Amino acid sequence: MDILSKIKTLLNTMSLKEKIGQLNQESCDMENMELIKERIRHGQLGSVILATSATSGNDEQRKTPTDIINELQRTALKESPLGIPLLFGRDVIHGHKTVLPIPLALSATFHPELVKTGYRCIAQEAANDGIQWTFAPMLDISRDPRWGRCIEGVGEDPYLGTKMAEVIVKGFQGDNPADKDTLAACAKHYIGYGAMDGGRDYGQAEISDYTLRNIYLRPFQSAIKSGVATVMTAFHELNGTAPSASRYLVHDLLKEELGFDGFVVSDWASIEQLISQGIARDRQQAAELAIKAGVDMDMSCRCYADYLEELVNTGRISMETLHESVTRILYIKYKFGLFEHPYSTHIPINSSRHREIAKSCSDESMVLLKNQNHILPLSPQKRIVAIGPLLYEKRALLGNWVLDGDEEQVSTVANALKKIHPNIILTSSPYLWEDCLPDIRKADAVIVVLGESKKMSGEANSLAHVELPPEQFAYIKRIHALGKPLIGVMCFGRPIAMEEAEPYLEAILYAWHCGTCTGESIASILYGEVNPSGKLPMTFPRCTGQIPIYYNHPASSRHEYFYYTETDNGANTYHDCRSTPLYPFGYGLSYTQFSYRNLSVEPSCLSIKELLAGKTFRISAALQNIGNCTGKEVAQCYLHARASSMARPLRELKGFVKKELAPLEEQQITFQLGYKELAFYNAQSKWVVEPGLFDLYVGTDCYASNALVISVKP
Ligand code: NOJ
Repeated sequence: MDILSKIKTLLNTMSLKEKIGQLNQESCDMENMELIKERIRHGQLGSVILATSATSGNDEQRKTPTDIINELQRTALKESPLGIPLLFGRDVIHGHKTVLPIPLALSATFHPELVKTGYRCIAQEAANDGIQWTFAPMLDISRDPRWGRCIEGVGEDPYLGTKMAEVIVKGFQGDNPADKDTLAACAKHYIGYGAMDGGRDYGQAEISDYTLRNIYLRPFQSAIKSGVATVMTAFHELNGTAPSASRYLVHDLLKEELGFDGFVVSDWASIEQLISQGIARDRQQAAELAIKAGVDMDMSCRCYADYLEELVNTGRISMETLHESVTRILYIKYKFGLFEHPYSTHIPINSSRHREIAKSCSDESMVLLKNQNHILPLSPQKRIVAIGPLLYEKRALLGNWVLDGDEEQVSTVANALKKIHPNIILTSSPYLWEDCLPDIRKADAVIVVLGESKKMSGEANSLAHVELPPEQFAYIKRIHALGKPLIGVMCFGRPIAMEEAEPYLEAILYAWHCGTCTGESIASILYGEVNPSGKLPMTFPRCTGQIPIYYNHPASSRHEYFYYTETDNGANTYHDCRSTPLYPFGYGLSYTQFSYRNLSVEPSCLSIKELLAGKTFRISAALQNIGNCTGKEVAQCYLHARASSMARPLRELKGFVKKELAPLEEQQITFQLGYKELAFYNAQSKWVVEPGLFDLYVGTDCYASNALVISVKP
């Protein structure tokens, strides 16, 4: 029997209460266990969230032991009337025991295959502990580093976002979702949550349909195409409503238009919060709005559990609507094999391999922003002192949204540096006390490890100032006064604005919060065992006042290229700040250099009909390593439509490829641009390619200057 027939048969045997039970998710830990078991026995629970608080990325989360998870499952299977398995979910965001870099840093790898392998590893570790469903990936495009949650996302670019969405979903869900080592993924937070005014969490956003579809929707489309099992609605208010109450967003757009066939879960109490948002007058109305919008499962606020029965009995919610939601949830339970293997089973875990993958991820996530006088990589002959507030830190390096990461596996930057270069001098204190000064005075260069704690970013952790914290700025100024070259290692979750601090630093390695292997990757890069290859997934502003600032904005009517060039006649956007960002999207240095030559395209003209038939523009160039060490380059291809029915971005990423090249090695790189790459949603929300001329740029970041023109004929 196929899954849908099995569900039909099951539905015929389910009472109204049991159907509603499938739509109810509650949190469970040791303290409310008996109550939860009672609900399970009565078929009143479809899923358990293994979290003990509403902001589980910030608070320490007690772990629910695997045998307790199995015991709850046994209660569902043996003691509830129909024995339908529970679905156990937990926030496995960028790691389980082994922790990968924060998702924003993973985007900086521009290496989707590596990211996929990383997620496969953590899915296995989590599945081994009885977890079946994760609330990731977060696909909220964000152009605002003030928003603490930008660290959980894919960055500012929809194209990079689609690539990351695909591999994270496939990494979690594996080749066959029914396998024992998979997790059902959840694309969140649908939609536009990254666009809230001022970066204020739980706030408001206004997004036109044009921008919603062309920017914010793209990664979600990719997740759906990759078979994502679930989607979570966001907390914020959007265009005068909330996603959890919007039938247009959930039912019409997500389910009908995009064809999403999994189920939709609310965020933690986002149904009940429709009341605080002034969208529902009470919990019953909140439940009615959400189920009518198409939200299938209620996370943790029991609005469905308390009111759906009455809503169905009074005819305000049809049985058809209820069946639709139950069917979607049961469909995912069948698809992920819960009826065949409901309990956790032992999955062999190769921990040292997982650690190696995590190390490759952190190696490739870190971005070298500045390297004056080629001070890096450090020569072992040089007398180096390492100091700084994060030198001896472990937990911060794991980052926000790590519930089960093993801190003991993390080596501090101090230990990692000592391991690679035993003669390095580590100051006895992270503070700049006078007993550090003699060492610094004798040093050839000083490594300063700066950064923020895990709780400075993440949910409800926004900032009004994203500059280097003032006390850390004062700190580098004091060391700088001693006349030594400084190498700044920045362990932050979000992009920070470094216009003032940058001149004090001879080199800057942006190391993010890169998880278990952060310390080792920093040491390997500083001493040249690894050549840095990360590229920025988000623009780095000069100062907070430039935010929002992003590379894919349309041309302006006068200060035409404010992201791209500056005028010297005073016609810049701001009187008190330059108009360009400090570091643009796609930027990142290497210890070697690359050249791009012989850019060509074939053909240079295609008709819309030919594009629809699958023909593509084939762009190629010769990429050469012209330096003297092996390195990896992310070659990027950008597009600009010169004139369209809607103002299109000055540049849009349409392809990238990461290549490793030995000194003097040359490789051919190619990009294929077809209908999909040239199309956009127009004013009528139609996915169209319009005829006209397009500029193409290929190079090392969004400032790429090798250009070509292609044309599309009607
Ligand atoms: C609230 C967060 O917004 C969401 O991302 C998370 O998955 C849920 N809490 C569950 O912890």
